[in-house]
Amino acid sequence: MTHQPVLNVFPDIAALHQFAAERLVQLANERVAAVGSFLLVLAGGNTPRGLYQRLAQSPFREQMPWEHMRLFWSDERYVPYDSPDSNYLMVREALLNHVSVPMAHVYPAPTNPDNPADAAAAYHSQLQHLIESHDGQLDVVLLGMGADGHTASLFPHSAALSAPASQLVVAVQDAPKPPPHRLTLTPAAINKAAHVFFIVTGADKAEALQAVLHRTHDPHGLPAQLVHPAHGSVTWLVDQAAAGQEKSAQA
Ligand code: 6PG
Repeated sequence: MTHQPVLNVFPDIAALHQFAAERLVQLANERVAAVGSFLLVLAGGNTPRGLYQRLAQSPFREQMPWEHMRLFWSDERYVPYDSPDSNYLMVREALLNHVSVPMAHVYPAPTNPDNPADAAAAYHSQLQHLIESHDGQLDVVLLGMGADGHTASLFPHSAALSAPASQLVVAVQDAPKPPPHRLTLTPAAINKAAHVFFIVTGADKAEALQAVLHRTHDPHGLPAQLVHPAHGSVTWLVDQAAAGQEKSAQA
């Protein structure tokens, strides 16, 4: 059964981070108590950095079962791990350097093979193994959204949107958001989530958010609309600016 997306609008980004951190701690501890581990897929880009930094601070640093976490990425730019464009580096600096997740449980996307398709196949195998050992689901997937309605590295009208359901990770060569070469979870992979949280802030996202949530179904034009887990929930965590509720200066 596909749940209707839930939209939570927060007065500011700090309130959004507090809610998201509390919810993640709750879900993580519930899942660890039930099955012994928590499989979390991390969003890239800039927006989630503040949430990762919040999770590295008290009380969440003490409350999260870090030693039982399995961390994966929703997408990765095809750059070295020490590149300023690397989503892995962003998460390492904002979170991993400050909490005790065993490195054996951290699964950065491989960005060193000469052929990105080989890297995608390797990441697919890692994810497939993790999902099979985790009741066939991703516990939580965190996602951002671009002003064009893309999510992860699933960009409008790209071939990645039509990847077969058997494919969990694909390589992207022509991303309109630089850098152009990326690896991304496919819609089929994302839709194995028990819980998806979109984290979207800023007035520049307001038009896309309105379109994704309320415009007629246009998933290839608005890839975020492809996110509808068959057995999971979708929650949008947005600030007032992204919700189009910000009072404009001249109003
Ligand atoms: C990436 C992200 C991408 C991001 C959106 C929003 O690697 O670029 O996965 O999908 O979530 O582009 O980016 P911002 O959070 O930087 O606005």
